[in-house]
Amino acid sequence: MFKVPAVSAERLPELLRRMPKAELHIHIEGSLEPELIFALAQRNGLALPYADVEALRRAYAFTNLQSFLDIYYAGASVLITEQDFYDMARAYFVRAAQDGVLHAELFFDPQTHTARGVSMATVVKGLHRACVDAQAELGVSALLIMCFLRHLSEEEAFATLEQALPFREHIVGIGLDSGEVGNPPEKFTRVFARCRQLGFRLVAHAGEEGPPAYVWTALNELKVERIDHGVQSMHDAALLQRLAQDRIPLTVCPLSNLKLCVYPDLASHTLGQLLDAGIAATVNSDDPAYFGGYMNENFTQTFAALPLNATHAYLLARNSFEASFIDKSAQQIFIKQLDESFEKFR
Ligand code: HPA
Ligand code: ZN
Repeated sequence: MFKVPAVSAERLPELLRRMPKAELHIHIEGSLEPELIFALAQRNGLALPYADVEALRRAYAFTNLQSFLDIYYAGASVLITEQDFYDMARAYFVRAAQDGVLHAELFFDPQTHTARGVSMATVVKGLHRACVDAQAELGVSALLIMCFLRHLSEEEAFATLEQALPFREHIVGIGLDSGEVGNPPEKFTRVFARCRQLGFRLVAHAGEEGPPAYVWTALNELKVERIDHGVQSMHDAALLQRLAQDRIPLTVCPLSNLKLCVYPDLASHTLGQLLDAGIAATVNSDDPAYFGGYMNENFTQTFAALPLNATHAYLLARNSFEASFIDKSAQQIFIKQLDESFEKFR
């Protein structure tokens, strides 16, 4: 295992910003900045219930997940054409590249769009073209994960899966997002079983606001390979042991947790405890346009608030590559780049 150099507190933010990393938990609709929301509304001839960008930003005061989701789905309603989806993802990739993101796995919520009459083809083609260009022009590798909205029915998830099958080659995995409490993973057991048969990689949001029991059923019933958020697992010692033993990655999103009041402040965040318990945690931005920061803001603010050091930074970055859905040889190439970036701090 790589010997991590000791890095002073003063140089730690620079290390965090420079280190290569993968982002595994980004809802691409959550990267829509207010400026782009207004630009797309104008391009599509849509009126917004906010006077300007500042008024929209002022509405970003959330008390819990649902208070955010209401505004997030309203923001996504400006996306109409394939070019809109391309432009949204392109803006994210440009920003991610600045933060040292070498690989990103993007969640998208097709049901938010198909319910408004936007076709699956429009959504996937726009996002896929942005992924191809991100690799060619920015050197960022990218994969797409389609999420089912858990506040809707399993029948609707099956219909969404059917609509996505013509684009099977562009979608690496299936996820589960939206309002968690009252919509446990086991509501989607059959559709996830079908997705597994079809060869999709599987993930699910669980234990963001919901109880550890939802993490258990995401693992045991949905048979997911990664848990998105999962921070409520801290309240269940047996679950922590299972996550550590089976190396089930958690895609943790510190600024999201802060903005949605999962923790009162970043100093209370349990990221360090999860890492110290041997869990393959990663740091991610979730919905960066809404939660006040992209990857490097998540890293630097969290490290400023918690007793975390260069070894934690290395683990988080290494975990992000190892937990990704790229093949092992590609992971090793990224990890070599990671090691080289740490060598410069020795
Ligand atoms: N949780 C659940 N659903 C979501 C989120 C989240 O953090 N972001 C976008 N959809
Ligand atoms: Zn999320």
